[in-house]
Amino acid sequence: MLDLSVNLAGVTLKNPVVVASGTFGFGREYSQFYDLGELGGICAKGLTLHPRSGNPAPRIAETPMGILNSVGLENPGVDTFVAEELPFLRKFDTKIIANISGNTPEEYGIMCEKLSGAGVDMIEVNISCPNVKAGGLAYGTRLELAAEVTEEAKKHANGVPVMVKLSPNVTDITEIAKAVEGAGADAVSLINTIRGMRIDVNTRRPVLKMNTGGLSGPAVLPVAVRMVWEVAQAVSLPILGMGGVSKGEDAVQLMLAGACAVAVGTALFADPFAPLTVRDSLADIAAKQGLTAVSGLTGGVRPW
Ligand code: FUM
Repeated sequence: MLDLSVNLAGVTLKNPVVVASGTFGFGREYSQFYDLGELGGICAKGLTLHPRSGNPAPRIAETPMGILNSVGLENPGVDTFVAEELPFLRKFDTKIIANISGNTPEEYGIMCEKLSGAGVDMIEVNISCPNVKAGGLAYGTRLELAAEVTEEAKKHANGVPVMVKLSPNVTDITEIAKAVEGAGADAVSLINTIRGMRIDVNTRRPVLKMNTGGLSGPAVLPVAVRMVWEVAQAVSLPILGMGGVSKGEDAVQLMLAGACAVAVGTALFADPFAPLTVRDSLADIAAKQGLTAVSGLTGGVRPW
């Protein structure tokens, strides 16, 4: 028998596959396809203190092996999440991870108070959205601001584990990981999207209304594996690895690089069942390699 469960910062996930924030909404649409209790966890759509309508369209475009998005954190706000979406998600036997973005460190603190009071299992602190003017990357690319946001979140999370979502749009991701570890983070998740741009050669206009966006999908997997590997060597925090996972083998690569669990994101848009096929294929690979627990994959890479 293969033990599929993993521990992410003290939270036991029944299997290592969660869905990535921003690709699963609040689960309502996907719940028409399968029991969301099959998932290791759900990272809910990113929340802000107040509702946001997001950026103007077009805000999603295809790329070779991926997509560019500049959604701009469209969401109904943390209070509506607590009142209307969390009760729905709580019907399923899985862990609920709320994802938050703020304009100021104080806003992160206020949201952590509300969400910890509402009983989420974990809070993912997003300091890496590339598509907003305030907050987002401004926090995720500067050591002292990344630390300040983490400290504020921890102070108000009332013991709920705080996982900080890191940006790949930096010179050295390990420096940011060390800064948030020093500030008390319980885990890190990586990678968020890589900034990119497409131009329509006929109109000579950028394809996205905001000119640039964040790249995700299979094209970014090798970057994610490299960054998870680097961060795993630099800090002792558990890692939720993500970026371009669409197959079990992709997830296994992230775990061998050092992730405890993995998130499936963009693959969901083409195949709602992707997290389940990734889970099953990951389990097959682990079993064929003679493991008794999938957690045995974590950090198992044998570098040359
Ligand atoms: O534009 C967005 O809503 C993206 C958010 C993120 O990448 O964190």
